[in-house]
Amino acid sequence: MKRLTLILITLTISAGMILTFTPFSLAAELSDDDCIKCHTQPPADIAANGGAHKTEVSCMECHEGHPPTVRENIPACNSCHSGKSHYELQNCLSCHNNPHTPLILHLAKDITGPCLTCHQEQGVLLQENKSFHTTMACTACHQEHAQVPPCVNCHEPHSETMVQADCSQCHQAHKPLVVVYNDSTPSKSCGSCHEEALSQLSAGKTKHQALACAACHKDKHKTVPTCQDCHNVPHSAGMMKKFPTCGECHNTAHDLNL
Ligand code: HEC
Ligand code: HEC
Ligand code: HEC
Ligand code: HEC
Ligand code: HEC
Ligand code: HEC
Ligand code: HEC
Ligand code: HEC
Ligand code: HEC
Ligand code: HEC
Ligand code: HEC
Ligand code: HEC
Repeated sequence: MKRLTLILITLTISAGMILTFTPFSLAAELSDDDCIKCHTQPPADIAANGGAHKTEVSCMECHEGHPPTVRENIPACNSCHSGKSHYELQNCLSCHNNPHTPLILHLAKDITGPCLTCHQEQGVLLQENKSFHTTMACTACHQEHAQVPPCVNCHEPHSETMVQADCSQCHQAHKPLVVVYNDSTPSKSCGSCHEEALSQLSAGKTKHQALACAACHKDKHKTVPTCQDCHNVPHSAGMMKKFPTCGECHNTAHDLNL
């Protein structure tokens, strides 16, 4: 084979056609294994963190041709990635700043729109439930992709005993002013702001004492039940006509008078 090539080259030289033949012959010999001989960083990056750019594409599928024969051998991302709104963004390399490590992202602190190309739901929640958080960029909180910040990085808890894990009893980050909770929310948490209600209720000796705040003030902050919601009217109509409100005899729910 080698000998055949030599003969061919000799023939070509003698035919005076060397200028067109030589570059073709070299280009054909360049393979992915050669790149590392002259370029160390890209192969090292791909080996370490290439992800799908290591397993699904080769150097030469992206870099078609090589200088000086081919001057422009840097591919456009959208030559392979198209068909999703995410791929319509400008300046892919501003976030994916090294194509040889495509999932190591560099995220500026003021990004919102591009996140919505994949996370529409969170954008909708923030817009439909206006709060100060709506005015913040996604990456003001999520400084790295998929990382979730603790609330207490930016806020004091409502009391000294309250910790980060408690916040989600009542709040969701994307609609922080909509305070909702379930029956198992400890009364202590409500007591951070309603000290009097908590101390009154705990001091009592009635069966209400065993009930959590959230068992009576159900689901949503500022819900106030009536006594009748749970007890109907356990007394005679005659008595109720004379003393129309429960509180006339029983004082308040937190401080029952028996
Ligand atoms: C013999 C050394 C050598 C080999 C082997 C080699 N390159 Fe290069 N490469 C160079 C040099 C030198 C340049 C700079 C050329 C220039 O600027 O005109 C370059 C330029 C490039 C560029 C363009 C960089 C830019 O800024 O535009 C890319 C991409 C590239 N090489 C990729 C590859 C790939 C992929 C391979 C393997 C298939 C490879 N090279 C193999 C020496 C080599
Ligand atoms: C998925 C496509 C893709 C693959 C696969 C890929 N590259 Fe690149 N490469 C690019 C892009 C895009 C740039 C331009 C980066 C920039 O502008 O910052 C680039 C830049 C380069 C450069 C010039 C800048 C530099 O970092 O030195 C070289 C050399 C290079 N690649 C070599 C390689 C080699 C060698 C391989 C295989 C081990 C490879 N590339 C695999 C897309 C790719
Ligand atoms: C030659 C084709 C080609 C080019 C050019 C190319 N990619 Fe890819 N890329 C792929 C393939 C194939 C995959 C794997 C399948 C998929 O996710 O679409 C991939 C996957 C990715 C992934 C996911 C990686 C992973 O491990 O899951 C990212 C991020 C990415 N590409 C970004 C880019 C960016 C940014 C550019 C431009 C700098 C680019 N690609 C250019 C072919 C390419
Ligand atoms: C504002 C930052 C940003 C820009 C700009 C950006 N991306 Fe992304 N990209 C991301 C983030 C964040 C992910 C999610 C990464 C993950 O899942 O780990 C991602 C994921 C990807 C993926 C893999 C997942 C998928 O759905 O395919 C590909 C491919 C990709 N981007 C290609 C591109 C291309 C092509 C461009 C330019 C047209 C681009 N990206 C521009 C931030 C960006
Ligand atoms: C990166 C910082 C940051 C993080 C993390 C953060 N916030 Fe905020 N939040 C703010 C800023 C800034 C404001 C406006 C000033 C203020 O009220 O302290 C705010 C306001 C609020 C408000 C009042 C909203 C309004 O419109 O009045 C609530 C409630 C709130 N945050 C709850 C939370 C909860 C709960 C978490 C965790 C799930 C959280 N925040 C995480 C920065 C942050
Ligand atoms: C004030 C800080 C803050 C802002 C601004 C913020 N997030 Fe979040 N995000 C969080 C916290 C904290 C969580 C954890 C869940 C929770 O507490 O509700 C979270 C959870 C998520 C999740 C996981 C799924 C889920 O909904 O729980 C995604 C995805 C997400 N955020 C995307 C976004 C996007 C996209 C934006 C911008 C449109 C954004 N976030 C704005 C703090 C924030
Ligand atoms: C190309 C699509 C894509 C883009 C763009 C994207 N994400 Fe994601 N994101 C994902 C996927 C897929 C996951 C789930 C897998 C994972 O955890 O990496 C995720 C997960 C998350 C999570 C964690 C969810 C959890 O349950 O813990 C947060 C927070 C998040 N993204 C925020 C963002 C923010 C902020 C941006 C804008 C800078 C963004 N994402 C851009 C695809 C994307
Ligand atoms: C038991 C329920 C509950 C828990 C647990 C809770 N909050 Fe609140 N939070 C509220 C209520 C209710 C308000 C609204 C008070 C109002 O209407 O003024 C509020 C308001 C806020 C505000 C707005 C400013 C302020 O102080 O009034 C911030 C910020 C906040 N919470 C952060 C947090 C953080 C951080 C945590 C976790 C450490 C947390 N919350 C845990 C119920 C709770
Ligand atoms: C961050 C402090 C805070 C926390 C925590 C908190 N609240 Fe409140 N709550 C308030 C404020 C402020 C008001 C409004 C007071 C006013 O209007 O005089 C209020 C009002 C109320 C009201 C009265 C509504 C009305 O119409 O009079 C009820 C009932 C209530 N809270 C129950 C609860 C319950 C139950 C919890 C625990 C799940 C809780 N609160 C946790 C701050 C808080
Ligand atoms: C969310 C439901 C709920 C509401 C609202 C409620 N209660 Fe009760 N109450 C209970 C339960 C549960 C008991 C215990 C019943 C038992 O164990 O037999 C109870 C017990 C009582 C008792 C008997 C106490 C004892 O120790 O024997 C009185 C009296 C009473 N409630 C009066 C009231 C009055 C007055 C109101 C309004 C101010 C009220 N309740 C509101 C649920 C409620
Ligand atoms: C047995 C049911 C019940 C329990 C348990 C209960 N409440 Fe109430 N709460 C009521 C009722 C009913 C009212 C309306 C006033 C009345 O008739 O007593 C009320 C009124 C309130 C009010 C507004 C009026 C005021 O007194 O300031 C607040 C705030 C409140 N409760 C907070 C709490 C907190 C915090 C807890 C837990 C420590 C709690 N409640 C436990 C039934 C209950
Ligand atoms: C005129 C005073 C008076 C009024 C008004 C009144 N109660 Fe009573 N209630 C009492 C007395 C006294 C008892 C204790 C009777 C007993 O032990 O048989 C009692 C007992 C109860 C009990 C406990 C019953 C049991 O079986 O243990 C409940 C629950 C109760 N009341 C709820 C209410 C509710 C709800 C209202 C308003 C609709 C109300 N009461 C109005 C005087 C009153």
